[in-house]
Amino acid sequence: MTLPPPAMYPVACEVNGEKRLVRVRAADILLSTLRDQLGLTGSKPGCENGDCGACTILVDGLPVKSCLMLTVEAEGKQLTTIEGLKNSPVQHAFVRYQAFQCGYCTPGFIMNCEGLRNAHPHADEETIRVWLESNICRCTSYEEIQHAVRDVFTPKT
Ligand code: FES
Ligand code: FES
Repeated sequence: MTLPPPAMYPVACEVNGEKRLVRVRAADILLSTLRDQLGLTGSKPGCENGDCGACTILVDGLPVKSCLMLTVEAEGKQLTTIEGLKNSPVQHAFVRYQAFQCGYCTPGFIMNCEGLRNAHPHADEETIRVWLESNICRCTSYEEIQHAVRDVFTPKT
């Protein structure tokens, strides 16, 4: 007996400022669609369970772990991946403070920090510390990451 092909659903959304239309199965996760259909491999699969934050992107400006979001839920949303950042002060700060070793976690940390800028433009040290708890760095570059993110939120004279 041959099984029928799975039903496919069209999903229209904006990705990094461009309108995109994808066709997905009901259970497809956004992380896979971004990487496999749209070729945006900056968002990384880590735990694929919502724990590590390597897959973090912005959905309507706020950080979301794309391994936990179904692609069909992205209908009508504005998505930003690490590829969509242009001249981001967060990226510059990560480079300045060398806030990475292997770099696998870096896109997730940067996108989470971009979300923090949107949600709390004047975040204090405690807010930064708590916000970054949703990301894990297996190379343990936490100190440098904290320095970089704090720098982003330090008013420049
Ligand atoms: S891969 Fe999404 S949280 Fe780890
Ligand atoms: S720099 Fe390697 S996991 Fe964070």
